[in-house]
Amino acid sequence: MEQNIESHLKENRLFKPARAFAKKARIGSFEEYRKLYRESIEKPERFWAREAKELAWQLPWKKVLEWKAPDAKWFVGGKLNVSENCLDRHLDGPRRNKAALIWEGEPGEKRIFTYQQLHRDVCRFANVLKRNKIKKGDRVIIYMPNVPEAAIAMLACARIGAIHSVVFGGFSAESIRGRIADCGATAVITADGGYRRGTIVPLKQNVDAALAGKTTVKRVIVFRRAGNEIHIEEGRDVWWHRELEYVGAKCDPVALESEHPLYILYTSGSTGKPKGILHTTGGYLVGSYVTTKYVFDLREEDVYWCTADVGWVTGHSYVIYGPLANGATTLMYEGAPNWPEPDRFWRIIEEYAVSILYTAPTAIRAFITWGDQWVKKHDLSSLRLLGSVGEPINPEAWMWYHDKIGGGRCPIVDTWWQTETGVIMITPLPGAIPTKPGSATLPFFGVDPAVVDAKGNEVPPNVGGKLIVRRPWPSMLRGIYGDQARYRKQYWSEYPGRYFTGDGARRDKDGYFWIVGRIDDVLNVAGHRLGTSEIESALVSHAKVGEAAAVGRPDELKGQGLVVFVTLKAGAKPTPRLKEELRAHVGKQIGAIAKPDEVRFAEALPKTRSGKIMRRLLKEIAAGKAVTGDTTTLEDFSVLAKLASPEE
Ligand code: WT7
Repeated sequence: MEQNIESHLKENRLFKPARAFAKKARIGSFEEYRKLYRESIEKPERFWAREAKELAWQLPWKKVLEWKAPDAKWFVGGKLNVSENCLDRHLDGPRRNKAALIWEGEPGEKRIFTYQQLHRDVCRFANVLKRNKIKKGDRVIIYMPNVPEAAIAMLACARIGAIHSVVFGGFSAESIRGRIADCGATAVITADGGYRRGTIVPLKQNVDAALAGKTTVKRVIVFRRAGNEIHIEEGRDVWWHRELEYVGAKCDPVALESEHPLYILYTSGSTGKPKGILHTTGGYLVGSYVTTKYVFDLREEDVYWCTADVGWVTGHSYVIYGPLANGATTLMYEGAPNWPEPDRFWRIIEEYAVSILYTAPTAIRAFITWGDQWVKKHDLSSLRLLGSVGEPINPEAWMWYHDKIGGGRCPIVDTWWQTETGVIMITPLPGAIPTKPGSATLPFFGVDPAVVDAKGNEVPPNVGGKLIVRRPWPSMLRGIYGDQARYRKQYWSEYPGRYFTGDGARRDKDGYFWIVGRIDDVLNVAGHRLGTSEIESALVSHAKVGEAAAVGRPDELKGQGLVVFVTLKAGAKPTPRLKEELRAHVGKQIGAIAKPDEVRFAEALPKTRSGKIMRRLLKEIAAGKAVTGDTTTLEDFSVLAKLASPEE
C-alpha cells in the first residue's frame, strides 16, 4: 500500500432499510441480496442470461461469455440494437405515451418527450446521419450542451451503428482536436452555443478552432440552441433543423453484433494522454439496464433525475441508456445548480415531483456551503431515494444529504464505479443492504472485487490495499481505442488476469468497502478526474514555463483544489500577472475545469535522484502542512525549505 493513501475514517452509524421501503422494493431483504449475489458468482451465465432475456434481441446469443484474459466477449453471436431497446421496445404498450425525457434549459424552457416522440426524433436524426454519409463503424464526436438533442444524437448513432464519442462541453478546442485525431472521427455534432450561469459557451467556435488545419472531419452538424452568431463553413457545416426537412421518420434499427462498439469516452490518466475507453453493445446495455433497475429500484411511476452531464460516463449510463432501457422517465437539466439562485435543483425537484435524485459529493458540498435556507424553500417530499457518485462522500455530507434532502426517510446509494467499468460495481441495494455513511457497501451482482496487497493477496479487515476485480463483467471496457498494449499494461499487468482499478480501499469486518481514493496522481477537482501530467504538459507548453507539477489540496467545495508548482525559464519574471496568464493558458488548453486554483512559482521542484518529481511532498506543502514522511530519496534538500515559504 502506498503511503499517500490512508484511511482516517471511523464511522459506526448504521442505517437499515425502512420496512415500508423494503416491502415494495425489487430486492427487499439482505437474504434475497445474498442469494442472488451467490447465484451471480457461482452461476454467472445463468444470472446474466436471465437478465439479458428481458431485453430485445434480433438474434439470440450462442454463448454468454468468452473469456481469455484480458479480452471478454459477452453474449457471443447475439445481435441487437441499443436504440431499439431504449425506444422501440416501449412502444407497444402504455409506455408509448409516457414521458421518456423531461428537460429544462438553464434559462427556463421546458420540453417533455414521450417515448413515441423521442423515438420519432431519433429515427429522423438517424436518417440525417445517413444522408450525411455517416455509416456503421464511423466515429462521431458529439460536443453539445446538456440538451435533449445530445441524447437524440447518441441514440441515432447507436441506431445506425456509428460509434459516438461525447466530449464534455466544458473542454477546449485543443481537447476536441486531440480526441478527433485519436479516434479518427469523420463527423462532429455540436450546437451554436450552450448556457452556463447565464452566459453562452461558444461551442461551435471551439469546434471551428479544433478543425483548423488538417483534419479527418468531413461534416459538422450544428444544432441551434443559443442563437449566438456562428460561422458556417460551406461544404462542411450543416444546420440540424435544415437537414430534418429532407428526411422521413422511418428508420429501422440495424442489427448489430453484441460486441459492436457503442461508444468511446475519453478519460484522463496519470500518464498524460487521455485514454479512449471503448464500450460495446450487448454487455454494456445489459449492465446499464440491470444496475439501473436494481440500484435505483425503479418503478413505473418514478421521475428519475441524474444530474450528470452527458459528457461523462454517468450521463451515458444513468441519464440515457440505463433509464431508457428500463422505460423510465429521465430528467435532464442544462445548466448550473446555482442559476439563477442556489435553489435551482430543489425548485426542479418540486416542480416535476422527482422521486429519485442521483448526484455527486462535490455538488452536495456546494449546497451545504450555500445554506439550508435554499432547501427549506421547497417541498421535497416526492423524493424516495438518493444516490451519490464520483468520489468518496464524506460522512458529514452523507448525513446532510440524508437529513436535509432526504428528510431522513430516503435511503442513500453511494455507488462506486468508473468510466472503465461502464456501470455501478459496488453499491447498496436500497431495500436490502444497511448503509454506513461513507461506505459504498457491497458488490453488485456478478461483481467480484477484493482489496489486495502488492503481491495480490487479500488483506485482512480494515487494512488498506489496492482494489481489484477478479472476474469479467458484461459492461467492462473492451480496450483503449487504438492502443490494446496500453489497455493490458494499465489494467491487467499489475495482477495478471485480474482488473486493477487504480483505487485504494479497505474492507471492514462486515465486508463493506471503503474507497480511499486513487493510488496514482489523478486529481478529482469538483467531481472531474484530471490527470496531473495533462495539466503539467499544458503548463509546460507555455513559453515562459520550465517545469510544472500539479497536485491536489483539500478543498471544502470542490473536494480537491488544484495547486501547480511552476519553475520559470531564465529571464521570465514571476509576476502576479503571469500567474493569471498561466491559469488562463491551462483553461484554454484543457478547459475551465482544469484552471489551477493557485499557481506557485518555485526555483526548483523536489525530485528523486532518478529525476521523478516527489508529488507527495508538494501535496503536503500545498495543504500548508509541514513535510513529513520519507525524504531520503530527495535529491536537493534546500529545495524544500524554499518551497515551504512562498515568495509573497
Ligand atoms: C473514479 C472513477 C463513476 C462515474 C463518475 C466518475 C472515484 C467514483 C466513487 C464512490 C469513492 C468513487 C474512484 C473511481 N469514485 N465513485 N462512490 N466512492 N470513489 O468516473 O471519472 O471514471 O472516475 O472516481 O476513484 O476510480 P471516473
